Amino acid sequence: MTVIDSRDIPADPESIERLAAGSLTYRVVDGSDATRAELFQRATTRGFLGAEPSAEELAFGQQTFDARRNTGVYETPAADTMPVATIDSWVTPVTLPGGGELPMWAISGVTVSATHRRRGIARALLEGELRSAVSAGIPIAGLTVSEATIYGRYGFGSALPMAKFTVDTRRAGWAGPAVDGRVEYVDRDSLAAALDTVHDRARSARSGQIPGWPSRWTGIAGLAPGNTDGAKVRGVRFLDRDGEVRGAMAFALQDSSGSFRFALDVRLLVAETPEATGALWRFALQHDLVDQVTADLRPLDDALPWLVRDPRGVTQTVHDHGWLRILDIPTALTARTYSAPLDVVIRVSDPLGFTAGDWRLRLDAQSEPRVEAVEGADVDAELDISALSILYAGGVRAASLHGAGRIVADRNVVEALDRAFVAFPAPALDIWY
Ligand SMILES: CC(C)(COP(=O)(O)OP(=O)(O)OC[C@H]1O[C@@H](n2cnc3c(N)ncnc32)[C@H](O)[C@@H]1OP(=O)(O)O)[C@@H](O)C(=O)NCCC(=O)NCCS
Repeated sequence: MTVIDSRDIPADPESIERLAAGSLTYRVVDGSDATRAELFQRATTRGFLGAEPSAEELAFGQQTFDARRNTGVYETPAADTMPVATIDSWVTPVTLPGGGELPMWAISGVTVSATHRRRGIARALLEGELRSAVSAGIPIAGLTVSEATIYGRYGFGSALPMAKFTVDTRRAGWAGPAVDGRVEYVDRDSLAAALDTVHDRARSARSGQIPGWPSRWTGIAGLAPGNTDGAKVRGVRFLDRDGEVRGAMAFALQDSSGSFRFALDVRLLVAETPEATGALWRFALQHDLVDQVTADLRPLDDALPWLVRDPRGVTQTVHDHGWLRILDIPTALTARTYSAPLDVVIRVSDPLGFTAGDWRLRLDAQSEPRVEAVEGADVDAELDISALSILYAGGVRAASLHGAGRIVADRNVVEALDRAFVAFPAPALDIWY
């Protein structure tokens, strides 16, 4: 898949104009200027309520900054001031149901200074990103969010819900099968490398996954400067019977009672095979002196509750995590595979207009999916682009969206949508971006 460089896309003219009306300057930051880069990073950190970054942290963040299209909003046209709002983006492959990929406009670092909130700046930033993505021909956008109430208004939908597990290890016990292979400790540099390698090989198995990047892996491995708990991070990897690394896990231990009883928090578990998943879960759950294991961002079909003797020892909390926004319906919908045939006309509403209209979806086993705009046809289902983006990843049932009034259709159409869109295995996104 050819991935374009978002840094080549100029700032969106409509957002330039809209913010200029409020005497604000909106521009893509020149990354080669160290002062501007530092000011941008400082503004982003402040926007997320972080402490003032050290020189070492700024140097660490520079690599990620350099790789992205960083757009700032400034109070003056002068370039060397702190932005009052930030956003960054890059184009990355996203896995689709069936294992294909599309280029996705990933958005991160959305902040508006507390002195400038609720004046429409975030709206100008988000709409600007989506128009830029459309202008570059990117069919889908994605983000992870600080609050679940912010992004639906721009057409994003919570397409990739994930589970947080809390395991009472003594109650849960272990009932998983014996595994051929071995688990071994690795130092934190090797851990970062193993997480990167295995994640990249495993990400094509689940729709919604995107590749990580160097500072994501060093951060999870506890090697990022400023991470006061970094030294607590430990790592193991799983090697199959041929000695091939098939899984890796970063975790941290915390003495929970002051009496040699510990809680183990899984920072990330990546696995290419069920054997690797089972072996790494077993390592965590059967660890001596550990009463509780927690792990977040696990897929909804994780084997964990089925690997233990007493599933009531495993508490699962499902929450929103990955948000998607289709920008080009024919390109997005014809790129994934479907689980059952479908022939329907859907009416899509879109607050920003990119995808609004009536669309006929014809999906069958004999031919490639066909998706075309139609006029005057009988409409079988009505939904907004946020709901379609949720359905698209294949992890949320059409029946749930219908029950919530997010899809308006007869029951038989809902059932047909449900059967066609559901993805195997469940979609997932196991990192933040
Ligand atoms: C969230 C944040 C970016 C919003 O910026 P803002 O410039 O104040 O937002 P806007 O004025 O453009 O508001 C746009 C819309 O979002 C809504 N909105 C803004 N912040 C919201 C929030 N925290 N929760 C829910 N809705 C919110 C506004 O009511 C407005 O709605 P409307 O246009 O439908 O009437 C800003 O508060 C912020 O920087 N927060 C801290 C960092 C953060 O959480 N960033 C998001 C990272 S995913």
